[in-house]
Amino acid sequence: MKDQIDALLNDVKKLPPMSNVVVRIMSLVQKPDVSINEVAAEISKDPSITASIIKLSNSSYYRASKPVRTVAESLMTLGLDTVKEIVMLSASKAVLQKDLKGYQLEADEMWMHSLVVAELSGRIITLKKLPIPKDLAFTAGLLHDIGKVILTQFFPGKILNIKDELKNMETTFTEVEKKHFGYDHQEIGLKVLTAWNFPDELKEVVSCHHNPEAAVKFPLLASVVHIANTITIISGIGIDIGGINQELSPFALKQVGMNDKDIELLFTSIPEIQKQLMELHRG
Ligand SMILES: [Fe+2]
Repeated sequence: MKDQIDALLNDVKKLPPMSNVVVRIMSLVQKPDVSINEVAAEISKDPSITASIIKLSNSSYYRASKPVRTVAESLMTLGLDTVKEIVMLSASKAVLQKDLKGYQLEADEMWMHSLVVAELSGRIITLKKLPIPKDLAFTAGLLHDIGKVILTQFFPGKILNIKDELKNMETTFTEVEKKHFGYDHQEIGLKVLTAWNFPDELKEVVSCHHNPEAAVKFPLLASVVHIANTITIISGIGIDIGGINQELSPFALKQVGMNDKDIELLFTSIPEIQKQLMELHRG
């Protein structure tokens, strides 16, 4: 099994493609003096992302104050940070929300899981006034389980075995994955984002969202996504549900400064978040 996975990961062409435009936009928007025109010009090079941005800008989720017809209008109406979020959302959707023959339930469930974790991560930044850009937390939340999505796309039956096995055992999803695949989805995710040339922040979150204490450079961001992910799983949204095996890391809670009241607030916001995200979920 491990050999099969190594072969998959060593041949970038076999992996789901990530638009080059997205990688360029990600580095472009990190420049402090970047202009809206520069960003719009870059985005416009990818017709499917352009179409998605215009569609999502006009969705009730983003509530633009007036109709958005172009990428430049989207940037002017919603602002650079929100458009960055939408770029990642559109680019990730193609990869994360894939039609999986016979496993549509799992695919839909994982896409909803990714969206809820993204939204919750952003809310934690606002709630605790953390010094991290909200769109970065949103993107990290959106992509945290990319490794699992890819494992499910290539080995759907096996993932379901793991899901079953988990029901009868006091073990974690990542431990069972390692037993079956030789890698867990965090390691796979890291390899995929490395192949896509994604920034270090995202690579680290993907590689340690289940054990944020292992984060070397970005422990705060890893902790935010860990908390968002754990709350989402305990709420029953995701394919690795089984609350007893998922615990909030005390390290992460301390990093973020979360108290019981904050955690309760996030838990109770889940139904409303899910409702709000329905439109993005259906796409
Ligand atoms: Fe995960």
